[in-house]
Amino acid sequence: MEIIIKENGQVASEAAARVVARLVREKPHAVLGLATGSTPLMLYKELIRLHREEGLDFSQVTTFNLDEYIGLPADHEQSYRRFMNESLFKRINIKMENTHVPDGMAADVPAACAAYEQAIVEAGGIDLQVLGIGSDGHVGFNEPTSSFASRTRIKTLTRQTVADNARFFCGDECRVPKHCITMGIGTIMDARMNLLLAFGEGKAGAIAATVEGGVAAIMPASILQHHPCAKFFIDEAAASKLQ
Ligand code: F6R
Repeated sequence: MEIIIKENGQVASEAAARVVARLVREKPHAVLGLATGSTPLMLYKELIRLHREEGLDFSQVTTFNLDEYIGLPADHEQSYRRFMNESLFKRINIKMENTHVPDGMAADVPAACAAYEQAIVEAGGIDLQVLGIGSDGHVGFNEPTSSFASRTRIKTLTRQTVADNARFFCGDECRVPKHCITMGIGTIMDARMNLLLAFGEGKAGAIAATVEGGVAAIMPASILQHHPCAKFFIDEAAASKLQ
């Protein structure tokens, strides 16, 4: 694990964007794994800037997102497909057909999950996976006690995650979907590089447990201690409980 601590999220995101940009320049057909939520927004803004001002070319890039809420159609204002379209995809020169987000409306969820895994394999595997982290240590929506061997599947969100995400649903926990499709921890661990971002005091406990605690399913991100190339870009607040 490489832990890069910057003075704030903007500087950390710019540093993370340089890692993504280097990969895309060296490997134009790169396969990126992407995350949603508030954490990666500054990274995506910086990638958009690099595209517009420095010609960073996404035309041959393929992407796979970590997760999607079950029951939200792609055009729902809180669907992760819409989030990605608005926050990144429409603002760079990626081909929409090369972008993948799990289908929260799939009629046959297990079949859709198996097809998602197969599509990642057929694309050549994920070169670089962007991750946020939940205050309970989840990555993707692999909540505490998720199997380290898990693959893309349906999961139930914990009460903590429902409470955390209510801010995106007018503060109303009742409106937060309770189920999602998420890549598994095994899927995430297969990525050649994992790049985790965490900002703010609210993530400090999860970061300390992930980096300095034991590897245990109760803190899902802790498995990244065993990943051959895991880089954490965090701000000082998220680093505040590290020893
Ligand atoms: C989102 C995802 C989640 C978030 C995590 C942190 O695709 O996989 O693991 O990264 O819940 O969310 P924010 O960034 O909103 O604090």
